[in-house]
Amino acid sequence: MILVTGGAGFIGSNFVLDWLAQSDEPVINLDALTYAGNRANLASLDGDARHVFVHGDIGERALVDQLLATHRPRAIVHFAAESHVDRSIHGPGAFMKTNVEGTFTLLEAARGFWNTLDGADKAAFRFHHVSTDEVYGSLKPTDPPFAETNAYEPNSPYSASKAASDHLVRAWHHTYGLPVLTTNCSNNYGPLHFPEKLIPLMIVNALAGKPLPVYGDGQQIRDWLYVKDHCSGIRAVLAGGRVGETYNIGGWNEMANIDIVKTVCALLDELRPDPAGPYARLITYVTDRPGHDRRYAIDARKIERELGWRPAETFATGIRKTVQWYLDNAAWVADVQSGAYKDWIGTNYSAR
Ligand code: NAD
Ligand code: DAU
Repeated sequence: MILVTGGAGFIGSNFVLDWLAQSDEPVINLDALTYAGNRANLASLDGDARHVFVHGDIGERALVDQLLATHRPRAIVHFAAESHVDRSIHGPGAFMKTNVEGTFTLLEAARGFWNTLDGADKAAFRFHHVSTDEVYGSLKPTDPPFAETNAYEPNSPYSASKAASDHLVRAWHHTYGLPVLTTNCSNNYGPLHFPEKLIPLMIVNALAGKPLPVYGDGQQIRDWLYVKDHCSGIRAVLAGGRVGETYNIGGWNEMANIDIVKTVCALLDELRPDPAGPYARLITYVTDRPGHDRRYAIDARKIERELGWRPAETFATGIRKTVQWYLDNAAWVADVQSGAYKDWIGTNYSAR
C-alpha cells in the first residue's frame, strides 16, 4: 500500500480517485481537513476497503510513526500543504508550519521507518514530494521555460515555503540516503478545485453574476495542466523515476490570465447562457497581487525523455470538461462556499 498526505485536497483527491480506479493497491490517506480539505471529494470511496482515511496532521510525529509502523507502506506521496499564494501573503505562518515543519516531521518519520526495512523493501521504498514550479521564480517574456537545473528564486511566502521543503527532501536523500523523488508541477485545473484559485473562482463567480476579479493587467502567464495529467505524471515518476532526481511536470500550455478568463466566459456562454448578456461583461480589473510573478512555464522534456510521459489533454479539452464539471456539481460548490469561504473572499477582495 501507499501513504498519501493531503489526499482530501484538490490534487490529492484526484490522485487517490485515479489511483484506485487503476489499481487495487490500498491507500492510507492522511489529511488534516483544513479549509481546503474536503471529505466529500472522496465520497465515492465510502465503504471501499482499499481506502483508509485518517484525519490528522503531518506534523504529529507520533501519529505518522504509528501509521507507518501499522500499515508499512511501500511509498509516501506527499501532497499536504498550504497551497494558495494570496493566503500566504495575508498569513504566512501556516505555510511555514505545514510546508516546512510538517515536511520536516514527515521526512524524519519516513527516515525512521525506512531504517527498519531490509533488503528489497528498503531499496524499493520511495518518498515522493509533490512540489511546484513557483520555486524557480518568475520568467521574462523571452526566457526559456523552467528546467530542473534552474536556480531556485522563490518570491512569495508560499513558494519560499515550498522551496524550503524541496531543499529538506534533497538533503534527506544526500545525507541519510532516503530514496526520494521530487516533482515540480505547473498550475493545475480540473474537477474538485477549491474556488479560491483563478479558474474555479471565475466559474462560480460568473454563474452567480458576480465580478470576475482580474489582478493587475491580466497579462501574467501560467502553464496550465489538467489535474488528471498531473496525477499520471506522478504515477510515472513514482514507478520509474530515478531516486534523488527532480522532474518538472507541465502542460506545454502557456496562457495569459485574461485569456483564461475569456475562455471560461465563452464556454459558459455556450453551455449556460445568461439572459443578462455575455459573461465577459463581469470582467473587472482589480489591484494586483503584491510581488506577483509575471510568467511561469515548464520544460517537461526530462519526464518525457526518461519516462515517456506527456499530457493527454489539450487546454481546449480540459477546460471544457472542467466547466462542465462545475455545472454538474452545483451542490459541491454550495457546500464549499461556507461561512469560512465567505470570510476569505471578504479578506482578499474587499480592499482591492
Ligand atoms: P489544496 O490546498 O487543495 O489541498 C491541500 C490538502 O492538504 C488539503 O486537503 C488539506 O486539508 C491538507 N493539509 C494541509 N495541511 C495539512 C497538514 N498539516 N497535515 C495534513 N494535511 C494537511 O492543495 P492542492 O492544490 O491539491 O496542492 C497539493 C500539492 O500540490 C501541494 O503540495 C502544492 O504545493 C502542490 N502543487 C499544487 C499545484 C496547483 O496548481 N494546485 C501545482 C503544483 C504543485
Ligand atoms: O504554478 C503552480 C502553482 O499554481 C501552485 O503551486 C499553487 O499551489 C497554485 O495555487 C497555483 O498558484 P497561482 O498563484 O499561479 O494560482 P492562482 O489560481 O491563485 O492564480 C493564477 C493566476 O491568476 C495568478 O497570476 C493570479 C491570478 N488571479 C488569481 C485570482 C485568485 C487573478 O487574476 N484573480 C484572482 O482572483
